[in-house]
Order: sequence, then structure tokens, then C-alpha cells
Amino acid sequence: MLDATKIGSVLADHYDLSPSVDLAEEMRDVYARMSRVVTPADWAIHAPYVAAINKLKKDRDAVILAHNYMTPELYHGIADFVGDSLQLAIRATEVDQDVIVQCGVHFMAETSKILNPSKTVLIPDMNAGCSLAESITAEGIEQMRARYPGAAVVSYVNTTAEVKAASDVCCTSSNALQIVEAMEGDTVIMTPDQYLAQNVAKQSSKKIVYWAGSCIVHELYTAAEMRAYRENDPDIAIVAHPECTPDVVAEADFTGSTSGMIDWVRRNKPEKTLLVTECSMASNIADELPGVEFVKSCNMCPFMKKITLEKVLYSLHTMTEEVTVEADVAQKARASVQRMIDITNAAGKA
Ligand code: 13P
Ligand code: SF4
Repeated sequence: MLDATKIGSVLADHYDLSPSVDLAEEMRDVYARMSRVVTPADWAIHAPYVAAINKLKKDRDAVILAHNYMTPELYHGIADFVGDSLQLAIRATEVDQDVIVQCGVHFMAETSKILNPSKTVLIPDMNAGCSLAESITAEGIEQMRARYPGAAVVSYVNTTAEVKAASDVCCTSSNALQIVEAMEGDTVIMTPDQYLAQNVAKQSSKKIVYWAGSCIVHELYTAAEMRAYRENDPDIAIVAHPECTPDVVAEADFTGSTSGMIDWVRRNKPEKTLLVTECSMASNIADELPGVEFVKSCNMCPFMKKITLEKVLYSLHTMTEEVTVEADVAQKARASVQRMIDITNAAGKA
């Protein structure tokens, strides 16, 4: 467990991190991308961290890959590349730098390590987990195989390296249907997200059987809540992630991965939008889309929110916490992730 006091005192010994109106002003172009959601006073607090991280990442030959759920000061201030899980995995195969700092959750950092065994992959907080990844082990995959002999196992990337290694192929929220359809046989096992599986089953020609995991952020939304929003405002655009229940998805105008959701809003620019997902998504695109009012009914992912500017700076300063994957597990897991990337690329969707 990271010790906040220790982090603070180590950083204070090496960097001037006191709030700075001057630095905030110097980096006003960066602030312009988040001024609707971050106050000037908060930006003056963030600016010294942003400046220190951006300098240090050059010294360390590091690249920062950040998920769409990172808070605006990380997303706009320090990330070299932002995206959904599939985009981050593909980007991880193209990295030139020696060090990858993953601003996201542990399974994302593990995926980067699996795809880059010779690089140093850091996660600013090792405890940034995921309720889906925690819901299944490699033994669970073997139980499913025993129950449905011969059926291909498609595991969501929101899984540990061991689970990926025990699976036939991975999928993300943006290619799940495509991957399932590419499998041989009539029955496909999907793990660990029961709702993603049910949502895919509605569109698939295959019989889908699934593990009963769920995302603690998306499972909280209800169809009744969606209907109440629509009754209150018939013109509202409801944009949902496929980790939501099929009832919620049925109420949505669009369902897609986090980047798919962002792209849909960019293209359609609805006056009022409800992003049925993690809170930072709306914050990150609020400045870019001044004509869109984001209705704030969001749920926070406590795992994603473990990643902060302070922990990123500490991580780069101390070159911790390093993500490692045993070589034989990494090799098998890489085959599952690479197969997913190959199927997606072959379909021209990457
Ligand atoms: P995306 O692949 O859509 O970014 O989803 C990742 C995730 O953890 C959503 O909860
Ligand atoms: Fe996992 Fe849900 Fe958090 Fe995504 S939002 S990391 S699926 S718990």
C-alpha cells in the first residue's frame, strides 16, 4: 500500500510543488482544454505537478498511456495518448520509449507489459484494480470449459494475465461482437462480464454462455432511471457503455466503448447528453464541446480514481510500481491479445 505521507515528503525534497499562478498562466493552452470543469485555483495546484511530470517523462524516456476515465488534469495535462482499452492495447504495440506509465487500472498495465516484455511498465498505484478482473481466475475458465466442451473462450481484456493465458482470445467493448462471430462453433463462452455477454448475445448468431461478473460502476444504472431522464427531457441523448445491463442499453440512443461514446457525441453534438458511464468521461470532453450540456448522472470508478498526478510523479521519480508477468503466462496471454488485435485489424476496424 502506498504511503501518502512518504510520497509527499519524497516529492517535497526534489520538486517545488507549491501552487503556482505563474506556472498555471504559462500552461494556459493546456488549461484551455479543461477550463469548464477545473477551476483556476485547482489548476494552479495541478500545474506544478503537470510541469514536473512532463519534464521527468522526457528524462526517463517514458510514454504515458491514459484511459478515457482519467481525470482532466491527467487526461489533458500529461497523457501522450488517450483512448479506450483496445486503442491503448494497440498503442502499446507501437511504443518506442523504454518506459510505459499506464494511467488506468492494473489489467491495462498488464496488457501493455504482455505486449512489451522487454520494456519497463509502471502503474502509479498497484491497487488500481477492477471488479471484473477480480471476479474470475484461470480455474474459473477451466470450469467453463468443462461445462461447455469445445466452446471457444472469449475473455474481456478486463482480466488478469493468467485468465487471458487460459482463454482462446480476448475482446474489448469495441470489438466483442466481431470477436465472438469470428469463433468457430455454435457456442461461445464469454467471461467475465455477464452484461457485455448478454448485450453481445442480442446481436450474435452464436449461443453465448457467460460468467457472472459485473462492473461495479455500470451495474448501478437502471432502465427506470433512464426513462425518468427521458420523461423529464424528451430530447436528451442517452449514450451507454455495454457493461450496463441490457435493460439500460435498450433505453440508449447509442452504445459503444468509451471512445465510441466520445466519437458519437462529437459527431452528433446533442444539446443535452447523458453519458451512462464513469464520471470523468464527460469532464474530459466538456471544453471541446461547448454546445453540449452533460447531464451529471455519473458513477465514479474507485479504482481508476486511485491514479493521481502526485502518484504519477512519484512513480516516475522512483520508477515504481513495476508491473511484471511471468514469462510463460505472458507468452500465452500475448497469443490471446494478439489474436484479438489480428481479428480486429483484419476486419479493418482498428
Ligand atoms: P473501454 O474499453 O470501453 O474503454 O472500457 C474499459 C472499462 O474499464 C470500462 O469500464
Ligand atoms: Fe473495472 Fe468498471 Fe472500473 Fe472499468 S469502470 S475499471 S470495468 S470497475
